[in-house]
Amino acid sequence: MAGSYTLTMIKPDAVAKNNIGPILGMINEAGFKIKAMKYTQLTKSQAQEFYAVHKERPFYGELVDFMTSGPIVAAILEKSNAVEDFRKLIGATNPADAAEGTIRKRFAESIQNNAVHGSDSDENAKIEGDFHFSMCERF
Ligand code: CMP
Repeated sequence: MAGSYTLTMIKPDAVAKNNIGPILGMINEAGFKIKAMKYTQLTKSQAQEFYAVHKERPFYGELVDFMTSGPIVAAILEKSNAVEDFRKLIGATNPADAAEGTIRKRFAESIQNNAVHGSDSDENAKIEGDFHFSMCERF
């Protein structure tokens, strides 16, 4: 059964361009409820751990540098079928391939600086939610 939660990060590129508000607006309008949220900056070791699944990829080092280059907003979002519905809302990883009306089509700069993260499975949504938030930070 599809789960009710996903984890997002509004990435440093979108934060630097003052797009936190418009992105949260699109998330709310799509029916997601905010269960947990924080404004923070990842350390190098946190970014390496979060993206450990990509550590053999050629872009891993640059991805870690980018994700630590400025503050992010992390949030657990709640909705039925959250992972799949959120991935539809954000669009393809590469904004050149993202559908009209998606967050990445509107706000992403490149395949790396792609404005937002969204968990790719219920299992990873739980791992990523636990990475950013303790139980007492969830409402
Ligand atoms: P995200 O959905 O957070 O998951 C992994 C991230 O790696 C992805 O968004 C991009 O920021 C980045 N990424 C994925 N593919 C590439 C690529 N080919 N080149 C550079 N960065 C990438």
